[in-house]
Order: sequence, then structure tokens, then C-alpha cells
Amino acid sequence: MATLKPIDLSGLNDERLASSVRAQIAEACEKNGFFQIINHGVPVELMDKLKEVGRKFFDLPKDEKLVYAGKPVLAAEGYGSRMVLTDSEPQFWREFLELHTLPLSERHYNYWPQKPAEFNETVEKYTAALMDLAHRLLSVISENLGLKPTYIKEAMGETQQSIVFQCYPPCPEPGKTLGLPAHSDIGGITILMQEGDGLQVAAANDTWELVPNHPNAFVVNLADQIEIITNGRYKSANHRAIVNSDSTRRSYVTFYYPAKDQKIIPAPELVDAKIGPLYRELYYLEYLQALAAGRAKDKRLVQSFAINNPLIT
Ligand code: OGA
Ligand code: NI
Repeated sequence: MATLKPIDLSGLNDERLASSVRAQIAEACEKNGFFQIINHGVPVELMDKLKEVGRKFFDLPKDEKLVYAGKPVLAAEGYGSRMVLTDSEPQFWREFLELHTLPLSERHYNYWPQKPAEFNETVEKYTAALMDLAHRLLSVISENLGLKPTYIKEAMGETQQSIVFQCYPPCPEPGKTLGLPAHSDIGGITILMQEGDGLQVAAANDTWELVPNHPNAFVVNLADQIEIITNGRYKSANHRAIVNSDSTRRSYVTFYYPAKDQKIIPAPELVDAKIGPLYRELYYLEYLQALAAGRAKDKRLVQSFAINNPLIT
């Protein structure tokens, strides 16, 4: 579990410690693109407040939540629930609320709950703080790769952010379902706060490693577009959420991703002149469409954008 020992970000502001913190981030990114951070600068009261408004929303009667039900469109948002038990391919056991938070023109307040009353203000403050944190992490990640600090931010174009409130109720037969089946996140970088254990990351030999819940920590994971931009130096991490029979687990997941019309290309600095880029260029919209079309069922979606090259697994 050594790799999931939280990285103390406060060291970035101390010149004696900064290079060691950067090296820890680089190592986690090289290894599996998954790490936890503490002393990240986001106030604990704000984290607690977000959990509180999330819990209060999920505690509302079903018909009040259904007012915010999402429609099945490409970039869906709103409330949904899916609770499936099966003996075959594991499915979902979760309730969720997804909201676009950036750019401001994509905030569709008709999906933002009116109860509890502090919901909007809390989500606005929390997601602004998480956007700053994402930018700080991306600048360290860019520099670790020998790129200028703003490289990845610029490569992803106009900032897009959404938040998903995940709620995994107790399940009578946890072996017959999953909160969220295995996947990698499709955007750039994901920052997750969890209440209760259940998040697992793919480990060696097809096993799953639990990402332990540390108080006041965030879990960070790299997603598919960072894999493409880094030309495969950093891979997106496969992960899933399991459920349990005795308690509700919740998580609050902030996704940072490119605009649909943003062209994503491997950074030329990271492309070997003899081999060439390992992924083809794409517009992020194509990626969303490939996902919606259920492409690459038995392999990672990002592999279907790899240029036929045995180095990409
Ligand atoms: C996700 C995700 C895991 C969790 O929302 O993409 O991986 O523990 N969530 O909720
Ligand atoms: Ni995920």
C-alpha cells in the first residue's frame, strides 16, 4: 500500500522539501496515476460543508430528487439512480447527481437542488477551490515531465469542470454488483473526496487494491486525455467502487476535462523522433462519441486512439 500513503502538498511551499514532494508525485504518476494528497490548501470546513449538502440532498424523498432527473444525452447531468443485482457482468449500485460547474455558461441551474438552501453557494466555493488545486497539480505534473508549468492546462483548452455526488447505499448482496464497474476516467484529472472505504485501483496480476479513506485527504487520478497528452508516459488508472451490506458510502468527484472542440495531441517534447506519436490527434468530442458508442468494450477506450504500436498496453 506504500504508494497510497498520502503525499503532503504543504512541502511544495518549502524549498527544502519541494523537490521530494515533486518526486513523490512523479513516482505515483509513473506507477499507476493514482495518489492521495493531504495539506492541499482546501479548507476542511469547506470539505465538510460539501459533504453535508450532498448528504442532505440524497436524504430527500425520491420524488423531490426526481425533479432534477437527467436526460440521456451525450454529456449528461442531473440526478439518477441505478441499482442492479445480477449473476452475470457486474452492474451499478448507486445514486448520483452530476452538475457542470465550468465554464459558467455550462452551469444549468435547473439541475442544481434548491434544498438544502446552502447547496449552490457551497458547490460554487468548493469547485472553485478544487479548480485551483487541479491547476497546481497540473503545473507540478507538467514540470515533472520537463514541460512548462502551464503546458497541460493549455493543452486541454478552455477549462471544463463537473462534479458528481456519488451515493452507494447498503446492498443486500454486495457480491452481485458494483457501485461503479471498472473504468478509467475519460477527461484530464479527477480529484475525489470519499466518505467510507470502497474505492479500488487496479494493481498487478489483475487484483484490486483498496484506496483507504484518509480523513481530509483527496484522491487524485490521471485520466485518458493526460495519457494522450503525455504520449503514454503517464497512463490513466483503472479503478472501480465496491459496495457493502451495512453502510452508505458517499464520494464527491470533481472532473477536469477539455472542451469538446479542443484538439488533443501528444506533447511533441514527449514524442520520440524515430517512433513518432503513440496516439493519434483527436477532438475531445470524438472521445465522448466513442464512449457513447460503447467502443473498445474489452480494452481501455484510450487504446482505440493509440496508433498501432505494441508499446501501448
Ligand atoms: C468516478 C469514480 C469512485 C468512487 O466517479 O469516476 O471512479 O469511489 N468514483 O466513487
Ligand atoms: Ni472514476
